[in-house]
Amino acid sequence: MLDITAILASSELFSGLSPASLLRVRDQLRSVRFPRGFDICREGEAGRSMYVIVSGSVSVLSDMGWGQRELDRKGPGGVFGEMALISNDVRSATVRAMGEVECLELDSDAFDSLLDQDPALAQNIAKIMTRRFSSLVHRTSGELLGAYRALTFALANLTESRDPETGAHLERTRTYCALLAELLAHHEHYRDVATPQFIDGIYQAAPLHDIGKVAVPDSILFKPAGLEADEYERMKVHTTVGGAMMDRVIRQSGADIFRVAQKICLYHHERWDGRGYPEGLAGESIPVEARIMALADVYDALLSKRVYKDAMGMREAVERLRAGAGTQFDPTMTEIMVGKIGVFEAAFLRYQDEEPVA
Ligand SMILES: [Fe+2]
Ligand SMILES: [Fe+2]
Repeated sequence: MLDITAILASSELFSGLSPASLLRVRDQLRSVRFPRGFDICREGEAGRSMYVIVSGSVSVLSDMGWGQRELDRKGPGGVFGEMALISNDVRSATVRAMGEVECLELDSDAFDSLLDQDPALAQNIAKIMTRRFSSLVHRTSGELLGAYRALTFALANLTESRDPETGAHLERTRTYCALLAELLAHHEHYRDVATPQFIDGIYQAAPLHDIGKVAVPDSILFKPAGLEADEYERMKVHTTVGGAMMDRVIRQSGADIFRVAQKICLYHHERWDGRGYPEGLAGESIPVEARIMALADVYDALLSKRVYKDAMGMREAVERLRAGAGTQFDPTMTEIMVGKIGVFEAAFLRYQDEEPVA
């Protein structure tokens, strides 16, 4: 049998309350049961209750932009839903019953009456809100504001974007990158690298991979046929130009997203066998982010129609990836991607160009 007052006393919200107040809180709780798979809280919806888990467990999920992912699991004694209750805001995550779950529920009316009766509770709320607000301000004013300024600066310097690759290509490649990084998180070789921050970082940074193409002349960028040797050399500089652009942005903001973007810009045309450009890096000396981007970028290019080529079929594109494992691409990563290629095919079909590529 759970000691409910002990659980309440150890929670951030009710810590420091007198034994009499804790008993008052306990008396306001009512028992509720949820079947397996039931969404007890839904992200984005208004929150009217908080819960203490008595038996069973729940999964805390959030929409990351590229799919819903689990952030946490809670079992008996776990508390959830309190933030939306005290801030009168919408739920910041979805909480789903993993099996049958029994909880004790405190609704907002009971919570409000407790608030009237106990100043310690009001003080705790003020402390929690101040702590969360100041960490939000810190994050916002630090990384986000710096990143925003630097990005605005970089974009202001781009008089026009002339990359013939479309928005749908950028949307698809960032999705492939996140999906592949997520698969890598389950592989022993990459588990330590592919953290949730890494996955989010690569998703945010991937669209910048070819930003250096602003330095490549139209006559080369839009050439329908193969490039001459000297034109190819001019094309290659998009990697170092992109890297230098990101370098300027990093010096302005120091935001991690641009460090990821810099690795991607510079090294997404390196090859596992060392025959790529601009530096001819080989194997694991190529940053992981760039190895992921290389697979994502080539895969999408194979499936897409471009000014100089037709689109390839899905089966043929997979064969090309396989053929490039160990020469062009990281062989382990390629195997992981090819093993789950259906996920990438679905992403390709999800984001299609609104107008046919010229
Ligand atoms: Fe490129
Ligand atoms: Fe690309």
